[in-house]
Amino acid sequence: MKKLSVDHLIGIKYLKEEDIHLIFETADHFKEVINRPIKKVPSLRDITIANLFFENSTRTKLSFELAEKRLSADVVNFSASQSSLSKGETLIDTVNNILAMKVDVIVMRHPNPGAPLFLSENVDACIINAGDGTHEHPSQALLDAFSIKEKLGNICGKRIAIVGDILHSRVALSNIFALKMLGAEVRICGPKSLLPKHIQSLGVSVSTDLMKTLKWCDAVNMLRVQNERMDLNFFPSSREYAKLYGLNLKKLEQIKKDIVILHPGPINRGVEITSDVADSKNAVILDQVENGVAIRMAIIYLLVAKLNIPDV
Ligand code: NCD
Repeated sequence: MKKLSVDHLIGIKYLKEEDIHLIFETADHFKEVINRPIKKVPSLRDITIANLFFENSTRTKLSFELAEKRLSADVVNFSASQSSLSKGETLIDTVNNILAMKVDVIVMRHPNPGAPLFLSENVDACIINAGDGTHEHPSQALLDAFSIKEKLGNICGKRIAIVGDILHSRVALSNIFALKMLGAEVRICGPKSLLPKHIQSLGVSVSTDLMKTLKWCDAVNMLRVQNERMDLNFFPSSREYAKLYGLNLKKLEQIKKDIVILHPGPINRGVEITSDVADSKNAVILDQVENGVAIRMAIIYLLVAKLNIPDV
């Protein structure tokens, strides 16, 4: 069996291109499984997984949980508001207490960039990053790239645009790493105030012109404006943002070609994307959600294969 080069999924930047191809091949298989009448396999029957969410999540948490259950793992969930962290316990102590209950894998979302890396270096379990602050969101980037590949046939040589609040987005950074690794040309686009300085050093081109970017690309990933991460006004108003950087049918008609439209969710309808575009045939937003379960099954399955678990 082919194996991943890593023992944890902390970020796309730690993966090799072959790892991504292996995850995609495995996800192809699991996508077929979850579309069967019985959408479950017994692969992880003796594995226990804890989902630790120290930050809000709907899609990602449900998606990981479903992926785990479809692999027949035992699953426990824990969210920060109910935890002893509010009583002063450290992250390592919290996690070590959970591990003492014989947990093999930890899926974690945390507001602090680097928290999953820190844990992977300090506790004895496989760690999967489900989003660490504004840093990385590797499973999202993998499901985005998988969904683009499904539509365009390939990623290599394709032109992919990432539009919106790049500055506060972990999805943007993980997408850039994954798409570049797979050989795509990547352009980021948004208001100057939401584009990180020196982002070109990651090998992407930068534009503040949405129409030019749309004409250039084969696929566009429309990111949400992350208001909860902003301590300043980065643009005058949502109306102005929508006018300049929102995607609507009129703009799509003007470019006179079909492009694939992605959005990681949750959508702010009428801000970064209008309802008619979000629900149009070019949008793959619900395919992304479906693929998310298959991709996460693949990630967990491949990482568990690297654990040293003796047969009983
Ligand atoms: C993203 C996230 O949480 O980073 N959403 C997700 O995981 N589905 C993007 C976002 O919140 O806009």
